[in-house]
Amino acid sequence: MSSEKTALKLENIHKSFGNIEIIRGVNLDLRQGERHALIGPNGAGKSTLFHLITGRIKPTKGKIIFKGQEIQNLEPAKICGIGLSRSFQITNIFKGLSVLDNLRCAVFGRLGYRYTMRKTVGQLKDVEELCEKLLSQLGLEKQRHVEADLLSYAEQRALELGLAIASGAETLLLDEPMAGMSHSETKNALELIRRVSEGKTLLMVEHDMGVIFDIADRISVLVYGKIIATGTPEEIRANEQVKEAYLGTSVDELVQGM
Ligand SMILES: Nc1ncnc2c1ncn2[C@@H]1O[C@H](COP(=O)(O)OP(=O)(O)OP(=O)(O)O)[C@@H](O)[C@H]1O
Ligand SMILES: [Mg+2]
Repeated sequence: MSSEKTALKLENIHKSFGNIEIIRGVNLDLRQGERHALIGPNGAGKSTLFHLITGRIKPTKGKIIFKGQEIQNLEPAKICGIGLSRSFQITNIFKGLSVLDNLRCAVFGRLGYRYTMRKTVGQLKDVEELCEKLLSQLGLEKQRHVEADLLSYAEQRALELGLAIASGAETLLLDEPMAGMSHSETKNALELIRRVSEGKTLLMVEHDMGVIFDIADRISVLVYGKIIATGTPEEIRANEQVKEAYLGTSVDELVQGM
């Protein structure tokens, strides 16, 4: 359920690489508890926006406010530490480790452990309990001892989602979590995302319109580094500018006119 409270706010965000301005004045309000989809053509700047929000790169101009705090100059670990976590467009897990060890690594930091000389990580009861909960949430109990490299693609993406939620973040950013999945894998992943994002704020990039219109409370459309529309799925479906952007007929005119 979404409220009118703002979870994350982007104010006039710009980002240039060299002479090219990729993000051109983005304003975005993410309401607490909503599932918000970010859509737009290839190269629109969606992943760049995610990198900016999570501190991987810094904006050329503008503010990003999370929990009342400006975060645009903070390092990624710090941003994650205050409750904002992400998954990547390309699967990003520790491939040489088992599923359980991947989760242990993520949970370890959350519970405030650094390292311990006296106990192996498997002896830390709170870590193990949280990992068990995550394994069950992700449907990966049977794969707990399987090396991440050997999981199916869909399982790897589920594990990646697990790493994102293991930090305990209340705001989740998912970049194309269904990319490369079959129809049935997509259906399962959609249910999984719905489950793990329950009670959290979600910002998700996805190209599959079926998925977007199914899960999103609101949608923002990014075209050439600018948000051209934000609204409910019905509002976005009926929006003429969005239709044009997706048909690709007059995107140039559209962008010049903004
Ligand atoms: N580090 C960089 N240096 C220079 N250009 C970059 C850099 N990162 C991204 N770009 C450019 O910024 C533009 C936006 O890229 P981005 O990956 O954000 O698009 P996207 O909307 O996520 O696209 P897709 O749907 O294909 O994932 C592209 O033209 C890309 O080449
Ligand atoms: Mg991308």
